[in-house]
Order: sequence, then C-alpha cells, then structure tokens
Amino acid sequence: MAASFTFSFARSVRAPGGVALSLMALDAPEAAGASSVDPDGVVARAARVAKFSGKSLAVLDLIAPQGSPFDRLIVLGLGDGTALGEHDWLRAGGAAAARLGSVEKATVFLDAPGVEITAKAAADFALGMELGAYRFDRYKTTKKDEERKAAAPAAVTLVTAEATAAKKAFSAAEAVAAGVVLARDLVNEPPNVLGPVEFAARAKALEASGLEVEILDEAAMRALGMGALLGVSQGSAPGRPAQLVVMQWKGGKAGERPLAFVGKGVVFDTGGISIKPAAGMEDMKGDMGGAAAVAGLMQTLALRKAKVNAVGILGLVENMPDANAQRPGDIVTSMSGQTIEIINTDAEGRLVLCDALWYCNDRFNPQLMIDLATLTGAIMVALAGHHAGLFSNDDRLAGDLLAAGQVTQERLWRMPLAKEYDKMIDSKFADMKNTGGRHGGSVTAAQFLKRFVKDTPWAHLDIAGTAMGSPTDEINASWGSGFGVRLLNEFVRASYET
Ligand code: BES
Ligand code: MN
Ligand code: ZN
Repeated sequence: MAASFTFSFARSVRAPGGVALSLMALDAPEAAGASSVDPDGVVARAARVAKFSGKSLAVLDLIAPQGSPFDRLIVLGLGDGTALGEHDWLRAGGAAAARLGSVEKATVFLDAPGVEITAKAAADFALGMELGAYRFDRYKTTKKDEERKAAAPAAVTLVTAEATAAKKAFSAAEAVAAGVVLARDLVNEPPNVLGPVEFAARAKALEASGLEVEILDEAAMRALGMGALLGVSQGSAPGRPAQLVVMQWKGGKAGERPLAFVGKGVVFDTGGISIKPAAGMEDMKGDMGGAAAVAGLMQTLALRKAKVNAVGILGLVENMPDANAQRPGDIVTSMSGQTIEIINTDAEGRLVLCDALWYCNDRFNPQLMIDLATLTGAIMVALAGHHAGLFSNDDRLAGDLLAAGQVTQERLWRMPLAKEYDKMIDSKFADMKNTGGRHGGSVTAAQFLKRFVKDTPWAHLDIAGTAMGSPTDEINASWGSGFGVRLLNEFVRASYET
C-alpha cells in the first residue's frame, strides 16, 4: 500500500494550520512548545496541570487556544532525551502517525531543549511515521467514503534546523520504507493472488528501480539439476510452476564479489502429502517471508544506490498434495549431486533453499551468503516472535548481523551448529534425510543447509516467528512485518559501505 504521508523539511513553519506536534523530553515541560507553537506558554501549563511528564511515547493532545494558527497541539513524550537511538526515533514517528490519524495537514517541530535531533533522527522519525501508518487494506471494499478520503496522503512538514541534511537523509529512509512496504505487501497478499509466477512478475517489475532481474523456469532448473527444489513443486498445478528469481544490484566496484541473499519463497505450504492440520493453515500464505524480505532488501539497495554489489535469489514454489506430489520415502538428487531422502514433505523449505544456495555459490562466488526463511515451527518454540534464529559458520558475519539487529531492533539470537546435530540428518538410504526428528528441529534444519554452502561465510536466519503474526508495535501494525529488510540494509551499510 502507498505511504500515507508526503513529507517536506523546512527550517521554519511556512504555512501553519492543521495539527502541530512537538516533542518533550522527560520532565522538561518548558520544551513542550517551541515558541512558534506556544507563544503564551499554554502547552507548558497544560503539561503541568495534566501532570504530563514526557514519558516515552506518552501523548498530550490539546485543542489549540484561540488565536493559534493551528487547530490541535499534540505533545509527544520522548522519555530520557539523552539516550535516543535509531529505533527510538522510528517508534516516536510511529506513535506520532497513530495520534495524527487521518489529518490532512500537520507540522512536526523537531526541536526539544536538551535533546540532540540530528538529520538522521529527523529522517528516522519520518520513516517511523510511514511504517507505523502502513495498513494492508486493498481487499476491504466496504470502507466508508470518509475513510477513503482519509486515505489521501497527509502533508507533513518537519521543522528542523537541519532541514537540508534531513531531506537528504530521508531519501535513504524512503528507500527503506519502499523495501519494507514491498515485503509486507508480498507477505500479506493471499495465495490465490500471489503464486510463484505472480511473485516472480513483481520481482521483475523491480527492474524499474535499477535491478537486473532474471527468471529461471522449471526447464532451466531441471537442466541445472535442481531436483530438490523441483521435487517440492511437482505437486503444484500447471499454472503454478516453480520459479527461481535472480536479482542483481551492481553498485560496487566492477568485479568485486557480491553479497548474496537467498530467500525461501513457499507461496503456500500445505505440508504436501505430510499435510498440515487445518487450524491456522491460512497463515502458510506467509511462508514466502524470506523471499519477500530479499526482494524488499534488493529494492532498498537499488533505490538508495548502495555502494555494493549484491545478489538476491528467490526460490519460489508452492507445496501442494496431489497425485503427482512427492512422497515420504522418495529420494531426490540436489544440484550439488548430494541425495536426499524425503522423510516429511512438510520439511520443504530446506529442499528449496539447498538448490538455491548451491546455485548462488556456484554462479556468483559471493563474499558471503545470508538466507532468510520461515523454516521451522521449532524456532517459535525457542524464541517466540521476539528474535529470529541466527545460525552461522562465520563468527565475524554473525557478529555483524547481531550488531545490525541491535541497531534496528530486528533482533537475532545465535543458535548452535555442531557435528552431533549434523549426524542427526544422516539417512539409511541416501546422503541425508530432510528431517532430524522432533528435538532440535531448527538446528537440524540449519545443519541441512550447511551441507550446501561449502566454505563460503554463510548465515541462516530462521524468521518463522518474526516474519508474520509477530508482536505489533509503533512501527508495525501489519501481520506481515517485513522483518529482515531494515536488518540487512543496516548490515550492508555498516559492514560493507563504511
Ligand atoms: N513453513 C513451515 C514452518 C513454519 C511453521 C513457519 C509455522 C511459520 C509458522 C515449514 O515448512 C515446516 O512445515 N516445518 C516443519 C518441519 C518439520 C516437518 C521437520 C515444522 O516446523 O514443523
Ligand atoms: Mn512445511
Ligand atoms: Zn514451509
């Protein structure tokens, strides 16, 4: 869905009116209104009377006094104004968007004594507003006219001494917003609308942002020997064939090895012949959250012209039961040549990823590979929706990812890899089996992937708990969260562009 604001940055108010929103750090009521908002100290007085202390994200919402050029005066609490990071500014923006609701015009005063508000903070505040206001309502046809009218973008002026720099910083933030919104839209779309072919077409459309996008069809994948990925897809209807999307962003030096991102894109996971129970199965439309995050990330990198070479690979399939579907007991041969005994057709994500990872490594010789996948229910047992599971064969890569998780608050928790877990997927009949039993389910899934990455620095993010249906907050009210786009954009920025 489109963002619901158009932003401008200015050093001072040009055309007052509508809502004025100012900021207040903890116990600093004199700050509650820049003098242009509150020439007579009305806001500061109201803050005292209401015992409004400026606690983080608390709100004081006033009808403007007679003579004010504004209609409403809102004060948003910042809490301890000396300790504000990127995520605090995003949340403040999200909280502001929620409070503004459907206004047509607003002026935000980014100025509070004792608080340092950098250009980056101003841009993050605006980004938080956009992310917080995101709603997926394209299938709600009964919205009232009023609501429709309110869907027109509100004009928001951000008043800051750093107006020029903030505007520049916001162009990068807008690229992030576009990527997160794309990922959320893809996850939220119903599976009848978004099959593998339709997903691939949406990826192809990103060429408009400057990416090169190729689509490999089933014949091409068969020629490459991708028996594991194709086995998952063989129960799908003829109109819903597997697609492998290869996206490239060339913003770095020519010849520099790319950073590679690989996403699980199961557009719907019934479980296949090992069919899932009916309750909650509709959520499996989001089993392409990894691919959605990779598509969103690639769009963000292109839009902000990131100074790196990056490759994004999406393994798009549907996992259906059918006369032609793969069976437990089948043995498939992956592109690597390694054979896999299918124990449970519901452990399909690793089958898609193993061929996508092998292909990626083989074709691009990347500096590193990061895969994202809604891979296991077990990661939700371990971490709920508050952290994604991180598995890696490389401590530096893991450290960089953990750090980006702290900055963005798309948090990761490192999980183990060890030969004892690897042994759990040895098979009686083939080189390996596709499940390792009930215990340590997320770890054995990661060990499976590890058999397809050789020595390339690699990380696997199990986002089953965080990509969809995760706890909502100021910057995400959506079922599909877009988890991973902000995380990996920050990872690229901090570790490969500076
Ligand atoms: N897509 C699921 C994992 C999942 C579950 C994601 C719930 C989001 C919410 C995956 O394909 C799957 O079915 N995994 C199985 C593996 C098992 C059969 C070894 C699981 O986790 O139960
Ligand atoms: Mn499954
Ligand atoms: Zn799945």
